[in-house]
Amino acid sequence: MSAAKVAVITGANRGIGRATALRFADADYHVVIGARDAAQAEEVREAIAAKGGSAEAMPLDVTAPASIDAAADALAKAHSSISVLINNAGINVGQEHDIVAASYEDIEASLAINAIGPLRMSRALLPLLEASRDGASIINVSSEAGSIAATLDPENDYASMKAGSYRLSKMALNGVTALLSKALRDTSVTVHAMCPGWTQTDIGGPDAPNTPEDAADLALGIATGGVDAPDGSFRNREGALPW
Ligand SMILES: NC(=O)c1ccc[n+]([C@@H]2O[C@H](COP(=O)([O-])OP(=O)(O)OC[C@H]3O[C@@H](n4cnc5c(N)ncnc54)[C@H](OP(=O)(O)O)[C@@H]3O)[C@@H](O)[C@H]2O)c1
Repeated sequence: MSAAKVAVITGANRGIGRATALRFADADYHVVIGARDAAQAEEVREAIAAKGGSAEAMPLDVTAPASIDAAADALAKAHSSISVLINNAGINVGQEHDIVAASYEDIEASLAINAIGPLRMSRALLPLLEASRDGASIINVSSEAGSIAATLDPENDYASMKAGSYRLSKMALNGVTALLSKALRDTSVTVHAMCPGWTQTDIGGPDAPNTPEDAADLALGIATGGVDAPDGSFRNREGALPW
C-alpha cells in the first residue's frame, strides 16, 4: 500500500491527460496512468520516474466494463484509498456535423466514451474514493461546448461550433457531474466539471492558445483547493461557467 495520495487519470497517455499525470506527480501524488496504449503509458511512467515522481501504468478502456472492473480490483489491492479521479479520456468525432447531421455511430461513441465512461469509472472507484480520510474529488474534463446556456447564447465563443455528437456528450457529462454531486452530497467525495479551454492536443490542434500544462494546472487547483471549485461546480481557468 502506498502512503502518497493517489490520483487516477483516464486517457493519461497523451494530451491533457499526460500533462496532468506529470503535474500531479510533481505535486507528490502517486499517479495511476489509465490508458489503452500500454507503450505510451509506460513512456509517461518513465517520464515521471525520471523526475523522481511515483506512478504506475494501468490498462484502461473506459468503454469496457471488464477493463474498468479489472482496474478497480487492481487499485483496491494496491491502495487503501484514492484522492482524485480525473475523467479525462474523450473523443471529438464528426465535428463538422451539427446534431441534425451527426451520425448515430458518432453520437453513441461520444456518449459512451465522454459521458458513460466517466460515470462507470466514478461508480467503480467510489469505495476507494470514499475511503480517503481527507476527502476526495472526481474531476470531469468537460467543455464549455457542453454548456446548454452557452449553446443557446448566439454571442458565445462556441456559437459557430457544430460538433453535435461532442456537444451532446459533454452536456451529458455535465449532467453526470451534477447528478453525482447530488447523489454523493452526504459523503466526503466532491464532484466537479472543468473546461480546459481550447488546448494544443490532437483534439484541439496546433493553433489552440492553451497548453496541456494550463489544463493540468486547473485540474490540480480544483483537487487541492487552489482555485474556487465548490462541490458540483463547473469552471474554466477564468472562473465559474453557466451549465
Ligand atoms: N483540446 C481541447 O481543446 C479540449 C477542449 C475542451 C475539452 N477537452 C477535453 O479534454 C480531454 C482530453 O482531450 P485532449 O485534448 O487531451 O485530446 P487527445 O490528445 O486526443 O487525448 C484523448 C485521450 O483520451 C483517450 N481515450 C479516448 N477513448 C478512450 C477510451 N475508450 N478509453 C480510454 N481512453 C480513451 C485517448 O487514448 P488513445 O491514445 O488510446 O486514443 C487519449 O489519451 C477530453 O475529454 C476532451 O474532450 C479538450
